[in-house]
Amino acid sequence: MADLMEKITSLAKRRGFIYPGSEIYGGIGGFYDYGPLGTELKYNIKNQWWKFMVRQRDNVVGLDAAIIMNPDVWKASGHVDHFTDPLVECKNCHLRFRADKVGKECSECGGEFTEAKNFNILVETYVGVVEGAKRKTYLRGEITQGVHVNFQNVLSSTRLKIPFGVAQIGKAFRNEITPGNFIYRMREFEQMELQYYIKPDEPEGQKWFSYWKEQRWNWYVSLGLNKQNMRFRDHAPQERAHYAQAATDIEYNAPFGWNEFEGIHHRGDWDLSQHSKFSGKDLSYFDEATKTRFTPWVIETSAGADRATLFFLLDAYFEDGKRVVLKLHPKLAPYKVAVFPLVANKTELVTKARSIFEQLRSLDIVTAWDDRGNIGKRYLAQDEVGTPWCVTIDYDTLTDDTVTVRDRDTTKQERINIGKLGEYFQHKLA
Ligand code: GAP
Repeated sequence: MADLMEKITSLAKRRGFIYPGSEIYGGIGGFYDYGPLGTELKYNIKNQWWKFMVRQRDNVVGLDAAIIMNPDVWKASGHVDHFTDPLVECKNCHLRFRADKVGKECSECGGEFTEAKNFNILVETYVGVVEGAKRKTYLRGEITQGVHVNFQNVLSSTRLKIPFGVAQIGKAFRNEITPGNFIYRMREFEQMELQYYIKPDEPEGQKWFSYWKEQRWNWYVSLGLNKQNMRFRDHAPQERAHYAQAATDIEYNAPFGWNEFEGIHHRGDWDLSQHSKFSGKDLSYFDEATKTRFTPWVIETSAGADRATLFFLLDAYFEDGKRVVLKLHPKLAPYKVAVFPLVANKTELVTKARSIFEQLRSLDIVTAWDDRGNIGKRYLAQDEVGTPWCVTIDYDTLTDDTVTVRDRDTTKQERINIGKLGEYFQHKLA
C-alpha cells in the first residue's frame, strides 16, 4: 500500500499535477508547486467548498485578509507563546525531529536524542524599508486571525445577526520540524476555513459543533470520497490546540496511516476576548432580540486544500488491467471532457471536432483537445488524469451529426447528437 504514495507522487509530476518546489535548484523541504492539472484540481476543490460554505447559505459571507498582519495579532492569539511543537535533536548526527513522531533513537544513525524542547513554528519575516528599523512580524500560521480582527468591520458593513459565519481560503505558513508525506505536511499550504459566531451558551455550542461536523463530513462524501476511508477522531484534552475547548479531526485512511485533513474546533470566546484585551477595542455583540451584550463563541471548520487534494487523488486512484484511472468526481476533475478527431490528417474531421471543442468551451465546460496517436492511447492518457468523458468525431459524424461519448469509469460508449451534447454534459455536471 505504501507504494501508492510513490505512484501518486510520480503521476502528479509526470502529468502536471504537482512538482517539487524550486526543483532545478535542488528543491526546498516542505514546498511544492502545482502544475497545470493540479491547479485546476485544487481550484475545483476550493470552488466547491466556497459554493457549499458561502454561496448556498444566507448567513455566511467571505473575507480575504492579508497574509502579513500586525505582530501584536500573534501575541494576542497566543501563537507567539504557544504555537510550538516538541523538538529533539540527535546528539550524534544533529538531525532534528518532532519528539511526538519518533522512537527512542535516531532513525538515521541510531544516536541518542536530546531532551525535547518547545520549538515555535511561526515563520518570521521583516517588513519596512529602513535597514535596522525593519519590523519583525510573521507569515500567518493560520488564516483564522484575519477573520477575528475584522469581526466589527464585518458586523458594521453587513446586516448579519448571530449566528453567522465568515469564510476564508488562503495560504498559511508553518516552520514544520519534519515536513513530509508529499503535500501532506508542508511549510506553505492553503486552508479553507469557516469561523461561525454563536451565542455564548453550552447547548448552542454543542448544537453547532455537531451541525458543522455533519456538514463537513457530507461535503467530502458528496464529492465522492469513500466513507470507508474517513473517520472522526476527538482530541483528548491534552492534545487540543491552545484555543480549543473541544476538537474533532476528520481523518483519512492514507497509505501512511489515519491522518487529519480537517479540524472542527470549539474556540469559545478565546479569539475575540484576546483581541479585545490586546487591542483595547470592544469586540462584543449586541443582541437586539434580548437586549443583551456578549462576546460570541466561535465554532470553526478548518480544512486543508492541499490535504484534500492529496486524499481525493489517493481515493480516486485505480489500476484496471493496463489502465490507470483517476476516478475523480466530475466536479473535481481538471478536464470534464476531451475531444478527439478520429485522425489528425483529415481536415473535415478536424474542423468538425474543433467546432465541437469550441462549443463545449463556450458553455464553460473545461475541455481538452487531443489529436495525437490513436484513440486507445488517448483514452488511456485521459483516464490517467481523470477526464470523465471523451468525445470522438468520426466519419459517421460528418453524415449524421452524432459523436461517440465514452465514459471513463464504465468505458461504455454511446452515440449522442451534437445538438444535445452541451446539455448532456451540463446535466451530468449539475
Ligand atoms: N485554524 C485552525 C487550524 O489552523 P489546524 O488543525 O492546525 O487548525 C487545520 O489546521 C488544517 O490545515 C489541517 O487539518 C490541515 O488540513 C491543514 N494543515 C495544517 N498544517 C498543515 C501543513 N503543515 N501542511 C499542509 N496542511 C496543513
